[in-house]
Amino acid sequence: MNLLILGRGKTGSLVVEVAAERKHQVRIAGSKENQACAALTPEKLHDIDAVIDFTTPRCVLANIEASVRAGKNMVVGTTGWHAELERVRSLVDERGTGFLYTANFSIGVNLFFESVRAAATALRHGYSGQIFERHHVHKKDAPSGTALAIQRVIREAGGGNDNLEITSFREGDVVGLHEVVLESGNDRIYLCHDAKSRRGFAEGAVRAAEWLAGKKGFYDFKDVWREL
Ligand SMILES: NC(=O)c1ccc[n+]([C@@H]2O[C@H](COP(=O)([O-])OP(=O)(O)OC[C@H]3O[C@@H](n4cnc5c(N)ncnc54)[C@H](OP(=O)(O)O)[C@@H]3O)[C@@H](O)[C@H]2O)c1
Repeated sequence: MNLLILGRGKTGSLVVEVAAERKHQVRIAGSKENQACAALTPEKLHDIDAVIDFTTPRCVLANIEASVRAGKNMVVGTTGWHAELERVRSLVDERGTGFLYTANFSIGVNLFFESVRAAATALRHGYSGQIFERHHVHKKDAPSGTALAIQRVIREAGGGNDNLEITSFREGDVVGLHEVVLESGNDRIYLCHDAKSRRGFAEGAVRAAEWLAGKKGFYDFKDVWREL
């Protein structure tokens, strides 16, 4: 495939590496090449099969709008924009493109969501829940998109308990650590996912772009990762 990777930061540069290993043709645009979405004009995108975005919450919506309006399939890993999901879904439907997003492209984290979903039944039996997340000091959004996704999973499975605090820590170069603690008067359940490197995100994103080829529609990675 011809892939355009937006963002040559910590994750975007690994996406480039994985995409090249998987024999894709790769073009990269960082903030300099993509000011005011300059890399995303219909002319610049005409031979691109899919755009993969690992940029910043500040510019991701403009990137999404430009790519989708140009009729291109898109995989979005950038977080901090999910309040606009429904608006983006309408745009994708209107333009008939393929769009896949997630706050976390790691297969391990998606398995972790399932363990959390099973354990969150505890909330129906008098337990309280807490979420802790740790990331590197340069992370721009807090709480993390993954912590918010865990909160949604627990709320759904736990019967809509609104009292689910997320505590965020920003320290050193932590890749991403998420903990769920479920507590009753009698005992405590701990669940933890600790990412050792960003490579799992990059592999998930490239495989997602491969899965999306030739498809239309709006997809959440949690619903499709088993098919990769
Ligand atoms: N879904 C997942 O699995 C997953 C995994 C990891 C991270 N993330 C998310 O992905 C995003 C990036 O994370 P990161 O750790 O890679 O951050 P990062 O190292 O800070 O990289 C962000 C990059 O975006 C570039 N950028 C800024 N504006 C741009 C634009 N208009 N067009 C193209 N590139 C632009 C920056 O380029 P310059 O340096 O040139 O300014 C920078 O290199 C964050 O939102 C993070 O939460 C998601």
